[in-house]
Formats: sequence, structure tokens, C-alpha cells
Amino acid sequence: MRPIVPLLFGSIATAQDIAIDLKWHAPRKSWINDLSQVMNGTGTHGFIFNSSQNPAGTPYGAYNWCNMPHVRAQEYPRASESFELVYVEVIHRHHKRTPYASNTFLKESYGWECDNQGLFYYGEPLDPSGNRSASTYWSLYTSDVNPFQQAGFKGSCQFPQITRQGLDDSWQHGKDLYGVYHDLLEFLPNNMSDKVTYRVTNNQITSQVAAMLIDGMYAPKEYTPLRIQPTNVDSLEPQYSCPKASSLYSSYGVGSSAANWTAHLAATEPLFNSLDAISAIASDFKDWHKSFDHYYDNLSARQCHAKPLPCNTNDTTACVSQEQADSVYRLGQYEYSFIYRDSPQSLQAAVGSYGVWLAELAQNIRDAISEKSSIIYRHNVAHDGSISRLLSILQIEQMVWVGMGSEVVFEIYASKGDEKKYIRILWGGQVLKSSNPSLGEVDMLDLDVFLGYVDGLVGNKAEKVVALCNS
Ligand SMILES: *[C@@H]1O[C@H](CO)[C@@H](O)[C@H](O)[C@H]1NC(C)=O
Ligand SMILES: *[C@@H]1O[C@H](CO)[C@@H](O)[C@H](O)[C@H]1NC(C)=O
Ligand SMILES: *[C@@H]1O[C@H](CO)[C@@H](O)[C@H](O)[C@H]1NC(C)=O
Ligand SMILES: *[C@@H]1O[C@H](CO)[C@@H](O)[C@H](O)[C@H]1NC(C)=O
Ligand SMILES: *[C@@H]1O[C@H](CO)[C@@H](O)[C@H](O)[C@H]1NC(C)=O
Ligand SMILES: *[C@@H]1O[C@H](CO)[C@@H](O)[C@H](O)[C@H]1NC(C)=O
Ligand SMILES: *[C@@H]1O[C@H](CO)[C@@H](O)[C@H](O)[C@H]1NC(C)=O
Repeated sequence: MRPIVPLLFGSIATAQDIAIDLKWHAPRKSWINDLSQVMNGTGTHGFIFNSSQNPAGTPYGAYNWCNMPHVRAQEYPRASESFELVYVEVIHRHHKRTPYASNTFLKESYGWECDNQGLFYYGEPLDPSGNRSASTYWSLYTSDVNPFQQAGFKGSCQFPQITRQGLDDSWQHGKDLYGVYHDLLEFLPNNMSDKVTYRVTNNQITSQVAAMLIDGMYAPKEYTPLRIQPTNVDSLEPQYSCPKASSLYSSYGVGSSAANWTAHLAATEPLFNSLDAISAIASDFKDWHKSFDHYYDNLSARQCHAKPLPCNTNDTTACVSQEQADSVYRLGQYEYSFIYRDSPQSLQAAVGSYGVWLAELAQNIRDAISEKSSIIYRHNVAHDGSISRLLSILQIEQMVWVGMGSEVVFEIYASKGDEKKYIRILWGGQVLKSSNPSLGEVDMLDLDVFLGYVDGLVGNKAEKVVALCNS
């Protein structure tokens, strides 16, 4: 095997026998990145927004914002017998939650209760002979005496927190993964040993998901560490600072004055006006009008939990209609595709802001196949900003706004026929298709090509990311 020559950003470099294309390639055209279909269309093209379960007649695998498809035994595409699985790394978005406080209206016409679950939070000495800790959880309440009242929903939830149904979705997600990688493939060990690790971000909602998911997999009796990097440098969320990536995103996407970004905002002014009239969000409140993010989260979080669409608190006959909500959902898909795939600058922006996690992934894979590390399964619980950037770097053929539980799985195989290693990437439980010709359908791709692609973009120990971020 000849070495892969280090490649320059945006160039097509040719090693003697492996040519790796590091350039951005446009995603496939579909209704999602066609403004006239998004603007003038109706409905949600079969995308689901109102339950974690698909309606009868809609197969598993369909886009379900409330609970995206993941690897499950029923649909799992088994690899040929001539390959042996040697390493798996999973990353997925947390499961369904309440909205973020910033996405709630100033005043809400109904409350949101979470008193059927506890968010456990405590410290305890790890040495078994030390003092113990009681199992305490947070119970949110508001005081009539405190004159400073939180805007938005009343009730006992944190905004955000994973909801009761979201906790169950997390548990099932773990059980389904275990059903494939333990029961079906006999790859995972019977006991959660040092071969299996879990990682979360500094946002507590990922820990809420991880604990349920681990019980769905191993139901361990012992304490389980959740690996976490320090605040402000965490690569999984991501939280590290990358000024160049931020300035790139704001030059063409949210907040920019680029004509092809503002086109859909200008064209949807009547929609914004009618939503504002119901929510009483001021029309000059920039955060709510620079993208559809806030309205999308606000409406979809309700609908995923079978809560009604909101009405004006002064006039309960003036409510957001399903047609308006569907328009918001279509526009959200359009925005994610624009920001993470359609813009030719999206690749560079994602490499800057998520390249460190990719460099870590490449190192994890190398450590596993060289047997420098005994870990055969790594599991990351992350956010939409993590999965979107990852899909941006992988140049997924059709981008969507990655819904709750959205999952990407990296499977590394040894071939029984030759000495080489191969990679398969699963998105939503099925083989991921990339618009980049070097990746293509990532189904038993030569691992050297994949690692060459990652190295070419992010460099050894993410050195190219550092250079890019400070450029
Ligand atoms: C939507 O349809 C109207 C009326 O046909 C047309 O004027 C407008 O340009 C269309 N919008 C887009 C974004 O194509
Ligand atoms: C969800 O919406 C679909 C239409 O998109 C509808 O057919 C279905 O009945 C709704 N389900 C629930 C639980 O409201
Ligand atoms: C939706 O936004 C409104 C307006 O800010 C807010 O009062 C409400 O709490 C939000 N709801 C959700 C589910 O985000
Ligand atoms: C528990 O804490 C007390 C107070 O610091 C200490 O004296 C005691 O040794 C601790 N007990 C154990 C079992 O560590
Ligand atoms: C490992 O699992 C087996 C059953 O599969 C059990 O008998 C054994 O006690 C476990 N070992 C540890 C260290 O948990
Ligand atoms: C309800 O009426 C009050 C008083 O006029 C006004 O301040 C508030 O913005 C209105 N709320 C909505 C949701 O329109
Ligand atoms: C937006 O416009 C810029 C400048 O004309 C162009 O380079 C870019 O390709 C366009 N982006 C999209 C997604 O069409």
C-alpha cells in the first residue's frame, strides 16, 4: 500500500493509486432545496412531526422529526460474510425534549408539566468505602413571591429537558442498537466492560438520554462513567471556538445579507406576520426572524407531544393552523440544506467547526485497528448542530434538518479475503450516500480512502482545523 499524500484543502490530489477528491459537491436536487416547491408547496412530503411512532402505512425509515430512524434488527442491512466487524462508533442527536426557553413565546396559553420524571443530579465519592449520596433529583417550581417570572410556559419542566416520552425513545434506541450489535452480530460483549464507552456534551440533556439508553443496552448495576470534555473546548457539541467558521456561516447563512439567503425570508414575510400576530413576538425581534429556527422548534416540540398548536392568549380563536406549521417545517428543511449543503462554503465552515471531532474519530479508528486501544464500541450523544456539521463534512446527498435521535454509525470491517480494512457508514440505519465521488455510497469503502479524506480536510491532530479557524 503506497502512502496517501497529504492533500490541500479544496484540491483534487492524486496519490499513486488513490485519488481523493476533497472538494465540495452540490447535493441532489429535491423539493427540500427548491425554493419554489418549499414556498408554494403544501404539506410536508410525508415527513412526520406529530408522534414518535409512524402512522400506520408509513414504513420505519421515513423522516420522523420526533424520533428519527436508527439501526434496528428489523431493517439492518447485514454485511457479507467475507467481512468481520472490528470497530463501531455511533453518534446521534438527543431524543425529544421541551423547547429551549429562547424558543418559547413570552406568554403561553397552556403549561407544560414534567412531574412524572426526575432529573437526577448529585455527586458521590467513587470509592465504595466512602460516604454515600442520596438519589436526589431536581423538582422545578416557581414562587409566587419571586417577582422575576420566567417567560413562556408555566409548569414543572426545565426548558429544555428530555420529556418522559423522549426518555422512553432513548431507552428503545439503546435496546435496538444492542439488538443488532450484541444479539444479531454478537459483536458487543455481554457485560459492559472497558470495551464500550459513552460520551456526552456539556448540555445536560445529552446525559438524560445517555443514562436511559445505557439501561436499554446493558441495564448495568454498577455506576457508568459518561465521558465528557471540558466546557468551551468540547469537540462533540461542538463548543470550541472557531472564528473563521462562525464568520463563514454568518457571511452566507443565518444573519447574512446574501441575496440567496434573504430571498426566502423576504418571500415569507406574510407568514412571519401572521405567526407574530398570534405569538405577539415583535416583528423587529431579530432572533425570531433571521431564520425559521425558533418558530420551528416552538411548533414542532408541541406537536411531537400531541399538544395543540398555539393560539393568541387574548383571542383563543386566533391559532396557528396546521398549514402554517407545515410551511414552517418545509422552510426549516430548506434552511438546513442551504446552510449545511447547498452553499459551496458549507464544507469549509463545517470542517472548521466540527473537524476536531472528525480527527478524534480517525484516531479512534486507527487505535482500534492497530489494537492500541481495546475499545470496540464508542457511543456519542450530541445535538443537531453536531450531526448537521458531520453530514456537511460527509457531503450527504440529501440534507434534512436532523430530527430527534438522528443517528450516524461508522462500522469498520476487516476483510477475510485481503489484509485491508473497510468502512460502512449508516445514516438512519441505512447506507449513507455522499455527493462526493470519493465517498459515494459508503458501503465497504476502502478505509484508507475514508481516512485520507478526513486527514486531507482536518489534518493530523486537527492541525488544519486550527489553521483554518485562525485564518
Ligand atoms: C410562488 O407562486 C407565485 C404565484 O405563481 C409566484 O409568483 C412565486 O414566484 C412563486 N414563489 C416561488 C418562490 O417560486
Ligand atoms: C399526524 O399527521 C398526519 C398528517 O401529516 C395525520 O395523518 C395523522 O393522523 C397525525 N397523527 C396524529 C397522532 O395526530
Ligand atoms: C413558542 O414561542 C412562544 C413565544 O415566544 C412561547 O411563549 C412558547 O413558550 C414557545 N413554545 C415552545 C413550545 O417553544
Ligand atoms: C464521611 O464523612 C465524614 C465527615 O467528613 C468523615 O468523618 C467520615 O470518615 C466519612 N465516612 C466515610 C466512610 O468515608
Ligand atoms: C458478565 O456477564 C455474565 C453473564 O453474561 C455474568 O455471569 C458475570 O457475572 C458478568 N461479569 C461481570 C464482571 O459483571
Ligand atoms: C394581549 O393584549 C395585551 C394588552 O393589549 C398586549 O400587551 C399583548 O401583547 C397581547 N398579547 C397578544 C398575544 O397579542
Ligand atoms: C449564493 O450566492 C453566492 C454568491 O452569488 C453563490 O456563490 C452561492 O453559490 C449561492 N449559494 C447557493 C446555495 O445557491
